[in-house]
Amino acid sequence: MSDPLHPVIRPRRLRSTPAMRRLVVETRVHPADLVLPMFIREGITEPVNIASMPGVQHHSLDSFERALVEAAEAGIGGVMLFGVPEQKDAVGSGAIDPEGILNVATRIAASAVGDALVVQTDLCLDEFTDHGHCGVLDAAGRVDNDASLLVYRDMALAQAAAGSQLVSLSGMMDGQVAAVRDVLDANGYTDTAVLAYAAKYASAFYGPFRDAVNSSLVGDRRSYQIEPANRREGLREVELDIAEGADVIMVKPAMSYLDVLAETAAISPVPVWAYQVSGEYAMIQAAAANGWIDRDRAIAESIVSIRRAGADVVLSYFAVEFAQMLQSEKPLRTPTRGRKG
Ligand code: PBG
Repeated sequence: MSDPLHPVIRPRRLRSTPAMRRLVVETRVHPADLVLPMFIREGITEPVNIASMPGVQHHSLDSFERALVEAAEAGIGGVMLFGVPEQKDAVGSGAIDPEGILNVATRIAASAVGDALVVQTDLCLDEFTDHGHCGVLDAAGRVDNDASLLVYRDMALAQAAAGSQLVSLSGMMDGQVAAVRDVLDANGYTDTAVLAYAAKYASAFYGPFRDAVNSSLVGDRRSYQIEPANRREGLREVELDIAEGADVIMVKPAMSYLDVLAETAAISPVPVWAYQVSGEYAMIQAAAANGWIDRDRAIAESIVSIRRAGADVVLSYFAVEFAQMLQSEKPLRTPTRGRKG
């Protein structure tokens, strides 16, 4: 007979000491599981702080190189590059120009740290268009899916030529993975991998990022990004992108979409990554700055939760700092005790 006042089953046993707790950890994060998003801005000689993302900067080419070395030393897995051009136009010409800021930065990264880090590039037009949309517009001002695919193909070739090892399609145009895979293969870039932001939601948590790329977007992205309430639609996008040949798929944002992430991880034959986006970063930074949460613990808990839900790799603005925290973890100390005689 069980005695309700003396339970037989006691899960607390495995929580009883620091050594036991450490041994029964189910999900561990390694520095190589982390990717750092970076912003490189044209025409600046000193880095510039991004107001809505305290601790994140627009890099000059010099500060970019220093940050790449720091990232490599921290042992993270890769960097995701975003360009912030001086001039924007309706078709995002700067994205295709080999001398455009993102392509210049990619060449620098590939030669400086290409052996230590996977150099990844954002393949999307919003950083380069004066209207701020992820694609080009038709005569009626709507985002033109198929015309955008043609620009993405040119952009992919420019990025591959610059040394990107993983072109990262974040524009959410239909057919973008197949269109880009086709042009890469036709031009000999069969080894350039394609990451698809497969389940990318129309999220309020991208707010600070729009500052970070000086986006001039009027309106919103709901005609191409997914409605936050839709789980099934996200999974459909995942399946389509895998069928089109995506090498890696992404769920984005991370923390508000852990259910979509877990379901994606359960069905995907290719690696599943998740992006802890600018607003997720900014919330932690703001609450910590006010003394409302423990910053280090919140960083660790947020990233391990995203891994636990199924992400193989986490993109995070905390990537380098968190990798450094992991590297500095010390063995548990044995308390010095007198021996009993
Ligand atoms: C599109 C893109 C965005 C982000 C990454 N790629 C912005 C958007 O879709 O609105 C957001 C990243 C973040 O918020 O950290 N190029």
